[in-house]
Formats: sequence, structure tokens, C-alpha cells
Amino acid sequence: MSDFEPKVIVFLCNWCSYAGADLAGVSRYQYPTNIRTVRVMCSTRVSPHIVLELLKDGADGVLVSGCHPGDCHYINGNYYTEKRMDLAQRLLKMTGLEPERLKLDWVSASEGEKFSHLIQEFVTKLKEIGPNPVSKDRKLVTRLEAAVDASKYFRLKVLTGKDINLTSKGNVYGETLKLESLDEIMAKAAEDEYRNSLILQLTNHKAYSVKELSNEIGEPTDKTLEHVVSLRAKNMLALDHIEGTTPKYKAITIG
Ligand code: FES
Repeated sequence: MSDFEPKVIVFLCNWCSYAGADLAGVSRYQYPTNIRTVRVMCSTRVSPHIVLELLKDGADGVLVSGCHPGDCHYINGNYYTEKRMDLAQRLLKMTGLEPERLKLDWVSASEGEKFSHLIQEFVTKLKEIGPNPVSKDRKLVTRLEAAVDASKYFRLKVLTGKDINLTSKGNVYGETLKLESLDEIMAKAAEDEYRNSLILQLTNHKAYSVKELSNEIGEPTDKTLEHVVSLRAKNMLALDHIEGTTPKYKAITIG
């Protein structure tokens, strides 16, 4: 679509990327005007749920930029940014929205030219992908809402915020984890939390059977049943009624 102009939100860390963007302007490097910038003290200030909310609300793309690894003014903030954006991209993939709509890159205070290229490339990529379909796809909105909820779960916050410790210093028992093992744990945890959140989103307004949920989620019935059992054990899902011989469940809402 030739006349499509993507709406892009760009987060810039105060100490490197914002200065890099400023230098691009001062040096008169050209870049598209599609971006709206948000200055944050450190790139790690940008939580996955912020990025996912923006895409749910119709942004065509989100770019997060911080200091190069090793240069973060808060020692290792950008290391956590990488883990957090990795989680946001995992969740995006599960919703079916293109993960390329989220980009993370490093720009130092002296890289005005790099900043201008980065914006040009990202806007070009978004033009290729096309507009965010969220305004025309109610199911996608539900899936993105589930991704937003999942990203706020304590387990995922801990996994994205503690992995330096887990892979170098070890856990409370002194056991260190290999990066690959941690990656597997993260993949499984993200999938579990996303599926649980999606079940809660779906059953918020209407009662569903396990079979109906498994069709909506696109996973085998026995896996959905595991999620339903786990949500019931946590008092987040309740039996609403029985239709024929089929139990139907609804989310428990407070208030
Ligand atoms: Fe720039 Fe942390 S201060 S990424």
C-alpha cells in the first residue's frame, strides 16, 4: 500500500539514544517523520506490557533504543531490556501479529547517522508489512489483551529480571543454569501464561467448554484441560453451568 504511513512509537534512553537522535537532527540527517519519540531514563524502563499495549491500541510499530551493551548508565539495564523485548516478541508471535513490528537496537550519543538509517529502515519494513490490522480484528485484540496480561505475570517478570543471577551466580541452592535451559524455561512459562490469560479473556464475558476453548486457542484439548485445571486451582476460573453433559467455565471476576 503506497500511501500507507505507519505510526511508530520510538523509546529512547536519555543518555545515549536520545542524544543520538538529537545529533541526527543537528547534523541534518534525514529520516521519516512517522515517529513519535518518548524519552526514558534507561531502555529497561520500557516493560513488555507497554509495548504490547501500544500495538493493541493501533501503533504500527514500536522501536526501543538504548545504549550499546556495556555502556548502559545503570550498568546492565540494557541487558534486561534485551530479555524483556525478547519476551514481548515471543508473546507477539503467539498472538499472530508480526513480531517485526517491534524492534530493539542500540544507538550511542555519537551515532546520529545510525539513528537516521535505523528509522528509515524500520519505516520501510513497516510499509512492507502493512497497517496494523488490530482495528479490524476483534479476535486479535483479545489475543493482544491476553499477551498484555501474560507479560505482567510475576513468573515472567522474575525470569526476565533475574536471569543474570540465575546463569552466573546461581539460585538460592547455588545451582547455576545454562542459558539454553533458561531459554527453554522462559519459552514454556511464556506459553503457559499466555494460554492461561487467553482463557481468562475469552471466558470473561461468556462460558466456554474445554473443547470450545481448545478450538479458539488452537491447541490439543488435553493441553487446554491442563490450563483449565490450573486456573480452577488458582480460583480464577469456575464452573458456570453444564450443557447436556458438557461443563462450561467462566472467569471469576472480582467486584
Ligand atoms: Fe541507556 Fe540504560 S541508560 S540503556
